[in-house]
Amino acid sequence: MALKISVIGTGYLGATHAACMSSLGFDVIGIDVDPAKVATLARGEIPFYEPGLDTLLKEQVSSGRLTFSSQIQDASDCDVHFICVGTPQVKDGLAADLTYVNSSVEAVGAIAKNGSLVVGKSTVPVGTAARLQSRLQEINPQLDLAWNPEFLREGFAVEDTLHPNRLVVGVTNDRAESILKEIYASNLAENTPWVRADLPTAELVKVAANSFLATKISFINAMAEICEAAGGDVTVLAKAIGYDPRIGSRFLQAGIGFGGGCLPKDIRAFMARAEELGAKQAVEFLREIDAINLRARQRVIELVRRDLSEDLRGKKVAVLGAAFKPDSDDVRDSPALDIAVQIQAAGALVTVHDPKAMTNAEKRFPVLNFASSIEDCVRDAEIVLHLTEWKIYREIDPVAIKELVSQAIIIDGRNALDREKWLAAGWKFRALGRS
Ligand code: UGA
Repeated sequence: MALKISVIGTGYLGATHAACMSSLGFDVIGIDVDPAKVATLARGEIPFYEPGLDTLLKEQVSSGRLTFSSQIQDASDCDVHFICVGTPQVKDGLAADLTYVNSSVEAVGAIAKNGSLVVGKSTVPVGTAARLQSRLQEINPQLDLAWNPEFLREGFAVEDTLHPNRLVVGVTNDRAESILKEIYASNLAENTPWVRADLPTAELVKVAANSFLATKISFINAMAEICEAAGGDVTVLAKAIGYDPRIGSRFLQAGIGFGGGCLPKDIRAFMARAEELGAKQAVEFLREIDAINLRARQRVIELVRRDLSEDLRGKKVAVLGAAFKPDSDDVRDSPALDIAVQIQAAGALVTVHDPKAMTNAEKRFPVLNFASSIEDCVRDAEIVLHLTEWKIYREIDPVAIKELVSQAIIIDGRNALDREKWLAAGWKFRALGRS
């Protein structure tokens, strides 16, 4: 008989995982403590924007295989429980807040039937899984725990979940591995690389991967700073080094840097955990990665001051993009919004546009002005900042839009616009890392 699955925590990761597991033919119940979220998902709607997930979720809910509940007891007949709750940064430090992971393991331990497997997917500091396994077995020695980190990217969540580029399973015995092989049978049939690891290694794979990605981005942003100082062009530099397959061209897009709910907090939590382990020096470089990343935001603000004036009071600034990256409505630690808010705080009148993230942005920063069209956003602006590289912004006609602004100056904070086209239309074109 097919395994029955529960997914505890139905945020970004959990909702996607639940819908994808159901699409593979499993009976799935999504559990969340937030009854409003449960009600939305149970209607087949998603409370955030993720391409393709809305259709998949609707299909799966109507198939009857996928249900949602706020009562953990409703998951008591499941064979496998995936823990997908968030691990945000703590308010008063760099570490990850494990409150939700701890409480879900307590809750699931109390209701899980003998022989069931609890599988952690949340990003946690190394050592958490071993501690949780001991705790689970204290509650009920017939339960087992595995760690199966998730590498999905927002904007590609469904594709990355159904066709991951690797599967990593941290287990302490063969039985746990074989249950996970049953769940991921379709991936194994596609020859997806399968890595069996112990619990600490599985946890570390996740933070190591995100640290590497963050390092790659900050590396190219450091090169952007050098290009600015030396009169070079970082986009050409990135292209040239990217042809070396040992380096690779992906994640070498220089600009205002990384944000979102993962990379920034994961590198910080990694530093905090390394310090606890007495291995602080090993990841001390991540402090510099974080600093380079935050500096990119300041560099854009300096460019604005250089073009307008030191005193930004009363200056009209248009900001294109609020999400931390395109194809997402997520504004957590968004570099675009951070820049917008800092410029507004300096006295400028900032108007923001984003095709999907306006509601979330407005909730978080009601002090900013929001425009529902690109035209309204840029009208009378003295400078336009392109800060999230949505496709619709690349399709802007610089000739037409020039009629609307009061000064034709654009800063491309993502190095994604066609510079020649904007220059030809008579704009002053600024970009990070391009002299
Ligand atoms: C990231 C990882 O890429 C996923 O593999 C991982 O599963 C996920 O975190 C997680 O831990 O849950 P995500 O946060 O969706 O995924 O975003 P990315 O696509 O990694 O982008 C992160 C940030 O880096 C964005 O703000 C993006 O604009 C920026 N970025 C990306 C650059 O500035 N330059 C680049 O070349 C690439």
